[in-house]
Amino acid sequence: MLQRMLVERIESRILVGIVMFVGIMILIGWVAINENPRMASFTLQFEARAVERGGGLFAANCATCHGTDGLGILGRAPALNSPHLFGYDFFADIKNRRSVLEAERTTLTNERTDLAIELAEGASDRRRVEIEARLAEINDRLNVGIEADLALVQSDEDALNNSILTAVDLGYDPATFSRLTQANWGGTLDAYLYTTLVHGRGQNAQLWGGNVMAAWSQQAGGPLRSDQLRDLVAYIANWDRGDGWTVEDLLSVRQFAIVPGAGGGDAPTAPPVGTDDEVAVLQQIADAGIIGDPNRGDQLYHRRAASQAGFRLGCAGCHEGAVQGPSTDGTWERTINERLTDPLLAGYTPEQYLVESILAPGVYIVSGYQAGVMPGNYPEQLSLQDVADLLAYLRTTDPNYVPPSTQDQANDGALEQPTQQDNAPEQEPPPAAAP
Ligand code: HEC
Ligand code: HEC
Repeated sequence: MLQRMLVERIESRILVGIVMFVGIMILIGWVAINENPRMASFTLQFEARAVERGGGLFAANCATCHGTDGLGILGRAPALNSPHLFGYDFFADIKNRRSVLEAERTTLTNERTDLAIELAEGASDRRRVEIEARLAEINDRLNVGIEADLALVQSDEDALNNSILTAVDLGYDPATFSRLTQANWGGTLDAYLYTTLVHGRGQNAQLWGGNVMAAWSQQAGGPLRSDQLRDLVAYIANWDRGDGWTVEDLLSVRQFAIVPGAGGGDAPTAPPVGTDDEVAVLQQIADAGIIGDPNRGDQLYHRRAASQAGFRLGCAGCHEGAVQGPSTDGTWERTINERLTDPLLAGYTPEQYLVESILAPGVYIVSGYQAGVMPGNYPEQLSLQDVADLLAYLRTTDPNYVPPSTQDQANDGALEQPTQQDNAPEQEPPPAAAP
């Protein structure tokens, strides 16, 4: 009876068919919905394994130059675990706030012009009162409100700039916050990493004291298979922190990329002094007949020129306005009148003190300041000429400084000549040794 009802009646068969069909569709739908997460979790597992294998390869092949933590090694190879490589812009928020304010300024200025025209063309008394009220509002916002907001943005920018000084000193330039843009690379980061690994960077060996980033792929004669290169790329890409990069991350980078002839660094034209022995360096400067050029020293000090060893220096960032170190102004006077009166510095010449301060900042710490703030790596960044130029520049921080050429041309009575008591009793020799 039941069987006859269900199977033999045509209506029942149709009904069963429909139910089956709907059931199958639901099943397919369910599988389809779950396919993406399932694949994603496969991909994740696959990527996690690639990152893991990449980590092993990195430790074995790359850490000696790029550091075990990928933070780079000073003078040896750039950091890869770095907000610079991943193009994080620490100033994005500041730029954005500033451009919003500037857009507001433009809008208000335009509105003000329109209203002024309306007034000039003659408006009803009621409208005139309205316009004048609005103009007062606009002027207040333009002259007071926006200016104050912009000043706030500026002070935040200054504070941020100050907090990244040590990175800047190592060659980081916030203007080229993206390594890929700096390297003129139009493609993706993965492709950049992969290509670098395949071909190496033999052409840039001279920037790194002859230390070469080799070609790693077997197709270019290197030791690694292409799947291993992909694992390495996955491992490096996994360092990306997206929007979570912090100033601390930036400050922990030990070496930034060097770009020949650009902000980050320049092709070296003379070797660095390589020693923090200031007496030896001053002797070499004298022996080589090197004369310090205060103008070039000024440029070096203020990051407008690169040192001959190929570095942009951060001196001004810390010393201008005494932000982190003693003020640039008065350095020479303080050297004579304060530092050299300290028994610890007995027998020092001013030149010796200053060169020691630059090459070996840890030897004598100015009271009131901390050791370890001023970078200790200038022996690797400055040539003999650079040291002589910086010294000549610091000599000019004496308010009574008279350039040697004017001194020679004697009779310019208008020029204030250094008097005996100014620098007495030390009659210091000229900045660098005379020829
Ligand atoms: C002998 C030292 C040395 C070893 C070992 C080395 N590298 Fe490098 N690597 C360098 C140097 C130096 C540079 C910078 C080259 C340049 O200026 O273009 C560099 C650059 C790179 C860059 C490009 C970084 C940038 O900012 O443009 C990547 C990526 C890289 N290396 C990955 C690796 C990986 C992965 C390994 C291991 C398979 C490795 N390197 C092994 C020295 C090394
Ligand atoms: C990160 C901050 C920082 C940078 C960058 C820096 N300095 Fe300094 N510098 C200091 C601090 C802090 C002191 C005081 C502590 C000490 O004696 O080391 C100091 C001390 C000095 C002194 C002694 C000043 C005095 O009044 O006795 C001189 C000279 C000097 N620095 C020159 C330079 C030059 C030149 C450069 C660039 C090549 C430079 N500094 C880069 C922080 C810095």
